[in-house]
Amino acid sequence: MAELTLSSKNPTGVKVDALVVGTQTTSDGVAVVGDDLPRDVVAELEALAPALGITGARDEVRTVPAGAHLKAGVLVLTGLGARDGSGSFPAETLRRAAGAAVRELTGASSVAVALPAADEAEVAAIAEGALLGAYSFTRYRDAAGAASTKTAGGVSTIEVLTSLARGAKAKAAVERAATIAAAVHATRDLVNTAPNDLFPAAFADIAKAAAKGTGVKVTVLDEKALAAGGYGGILAVGQGSSRGPRLVKVSYSPSRPHAKVALVGKGITFDSGGISIKPAKGMEAMKSDMAGAAAVLHTVLAASRLGLPVAVTGWLCLAENMPSGTAQRPSDVITIRGGKTVEVLNTDAEGRLVMADGLVAAIEENPDVVLDVATLTGAQMVALGTRVSAVMGTESVRSEVVAAAESAGEQFWPMPLPEELAASMKSKVADIANIGDRFGGMLVAGLFLQEFVGSTPWAHLDIAGPSFNEGSAFGYTPVGGTGVAVRTLVELLEARAAK
Ligand code: BES
Ligand code: MN
Ligand code: ZN
Repeated sequence: MAELTLSSKNPTGVKVDALVVGTQTTSDGVAVVGDDLPRDVVAELEALAPALGITGARDEVRTVPAGAHLKAGVLVLTGLGARDGSGSFPAETLRRAAGAAVRELTGASSVAVALPAADEAEVAAIAEGALLGAYSFTRYRDAAGAASTKTAGGVSTIEVLTSLARGAKAKAAVERAATIAAAVHATRDLVNTAPNDLFPAAFADIAKAAAKGTGVKVTVLDEKALAAGGYGGILAVGQGSSRGPRLVKVSYSPSRPHAKVALVGKGITFDSGGISIKPAKGMEAMKSDMAGAAAVLHTVLAASRLGLPVAVTGWLCLAENMPSGTAQRPSDVITIRGGKTVEVLNTDAEGRLVMADGLVAAIEENPDVVLDVATLTGAQMVALGTRVSAVMGTESVRSEVVAAAESAGEQFWPMPLPEELAASMKSKVADIANIGDRFGGMLVAGLFLQEFVGSTPWAHLDIAGPSFNEGSAFGYTPVGGTGVAVRTLVELLEARAAK
């Protein structure tokens, strides 16, 4: 990850490859905003803006020569839109503007960001956005290839310029932002990793390696241990693959915790659909079907790095869903840990099977709250699109997730679990079937999980669309794995810690 520093230097004198400043829309055109920019530079840019097609709108990024008055190589103008009623910019606007500017840099190694920050929280948002925008995934490119594809991966240092730089509060806020950005990057890396490299046992090894030296304990249940423990869901989904399933428990246990939180993540390292095979078109995106488990792993590690006084246990439900002679069949009846039986009518509704085992295991340890994160349904995208995640479950926990997402700058929207839909999962032979009504498919999946939760306060996060960006990059969000849910979960843990 790029190195981030805070500095109170004047933007005029910073010797960097690129200097990022803001543009805003005003009633009479465009204004250039950035602390301490020379007046003549501002006046010249504002005069040129119309001819350059610069409007100051959000998501607009333009690079221009820095000119003789500045020591920087190029000037990057990033749009902030209009100021809100209170005269400031929302934190998420600053985060996205900083991210978009850094993301668009292709030849720069050193960057300084001079965006308007009114307080430490805004400084941190700018830092976080810049770091999130500086992501690139180059594992599968040779050095020459990486150069020819021009990514923001070349950015090695980011200086955030602010008059608040010297304060301890700003330093702490930026340190937190860097920890969170690193967790998001690591989550993206896992999601982007090809499924021939990332299979359940490999994921478990990565979890162990990532936890080394952090004090976070990683326990791996292999197939033998899963069979002994009665984890019928994870085993059934994994049985079609030559690369067996795993359940990985990742525990962060500080002394005298204020709360005990369980996180359960869906980790299907590839979802072909199994015998109920998916169409070829778009199947490649199913390497991202482990995004929930990736987010859970890196949230637990971030909680430990931040030293939060909250005990957090993550459960990574890892399996590869493949069709084969050993795969489960539609009409198989399986037994989830704890004894409930499920008739598997569609092997492509596999996420809820592995998550049921994970939820049961998590709840056995009596957490105060359990949150599950899963790329569970295509219906999530039908309902909310590809940028807004859904949250279902206990009303208070659902609200807690929405509030945490709002402060973190992620979009989570509350959805209901209508009781009457549950009847559609009636099975002729088992306690429940793994599919029900097609309409409201996301809610049906949530209701299925609810059957395994009991009375523990719980929220289910469906991140199917937002976890993997199949379109173009925007703001600080790259193409491919996005790392969604990490920031919301960390924020929620911090809120619990403060209680
Ligand atoms: N992993 C998919 C859901 C998904 C689809 C995530 C597209 C991201 C993008 C899940 O396992 C699945 O296949 N769900 C089925 C359920 C159906 C068979 C009831 C679906 O949504 O079609
Ligand atoms: Mn599936
Ligand atoms: Zn799936």
